[in-house]
Amino acid sequence: MDQKEQKILAATTAVDTLIKDGKIFSGMKIGLGTGSTALPAVKRLAERIEDGTLKDIKAVVTSFQTENYCKDLGIPVYTLNDRAIDGQLDLAIDGADEIDPKNNLIKGGGAALLLEKIVAYNSKFYAIVADESKSVATVGTKFPLPVEIIGGARRAVEKKLNEMGAKCVLRDGVRKCGPVITDNGNQILDCTWEDPVDPAKMEDEIAKITGVVEVGFFTKLRPTAFIAHSDGTVEIR
Ligand code: 5RP
Repeated sequence: MDQKEQKILAATTAVDTLIKDGKIFSGMKIGLGTGSTALPAVKRLAERIEDGTLKDIKAVVTSFQTENYCKDLGIPVYTLNDRAIDGQLDLAIDGADEIDPKNNLIKGGGAALLLEKIVAYNSKFYAIVADESKSVATVGTKFPLPVEIIGGARRAVEKKLNEMGAKCVLRDGVRKCGPVITDNGNQILDCTWEDPVDPAKMEDEIAKITGVVEVGFFTKLRPTAFIAHSDGTVEIR
């Protein structure tokens, strides 16, 4: 299986395992992630609505990308603040850029880390869907850590991150001059370290820097991961 097929397999398996195919589910509040693995999960949810096994779903999205996709598919979109959601989700499904054996994550490759973390941390159950390329021994050695920052604090934050041993690159827009502007109006510094760092400690330390909005390490949750492999199997851990 190629990478795209693995993403679809992981996403579909997660939905049909967590929301068991064949039974009817009603009224679930579901957080929906962003990216090329999360979207097939959204598509599968739409199919389950269509076949009548999923009723009255309430979705909370993590990006404009996912909001547009839900609207195209006719999935009703709410915010965490809506009374029907009341700040608490039953389930969140999302992709990841890296996942280690303890299910620590790096997220934010699609610059949606802020809402992704808010949704994840306010969900009773958190599922990660990924192809096998995302599985690593140590997070933060290959994929640069995204840090969402207030643009006006860029140099100050960068200096603090440099003192913590990180090299930082301001993420550039594609088909747009200048930096990526996140869905929340902020900018992204992609950070790398020469040697492995402690992701839990770094998540806390970086979050304390004034001007940092959110950090792409997700270490405070223990998601259930659905990782699809090229041989067509899905590892659930
Ligand atoms: C977006 C994310 C995505 O979940 C992450 O980048 C993985 O994306 P993909 O499934 O397209 O590889 O964190 O901010």
